[in-house]
Amino acid sequence: MPLQITICRLCIRSRPDVLRMVAQLAAAFPEKLIVVELECMAACDDVPAVMIETDYFPQVTPPGLERAVRERLIPA
Ligand code: FES
Repeated sequence: MPLQITICRLCIRSRPDVLRMVAQLAAAFPEKLIVVELECMAACDDVPAVMIETDYFPQVTPPGLERAVRERLIPA
């Protein structure tokens, strides 16, 4: 079952670096990752916020997002 990343369609575009990382991860793991874009994920105060499955990552950075995804897709 693919790992789900949920982002806010509006807020993520204010942070192109994070959006780029989402796109890079989706391209790197096409079978293992799905990206769901919501109109609002009720995280307007924590931009850019991302959910990976049910885990919430407020004010995520590109390296933080990459690390969180890779930890879940490539267990140590
Ligand atoms: S409009 Fe982006 S989280 Fe609310």
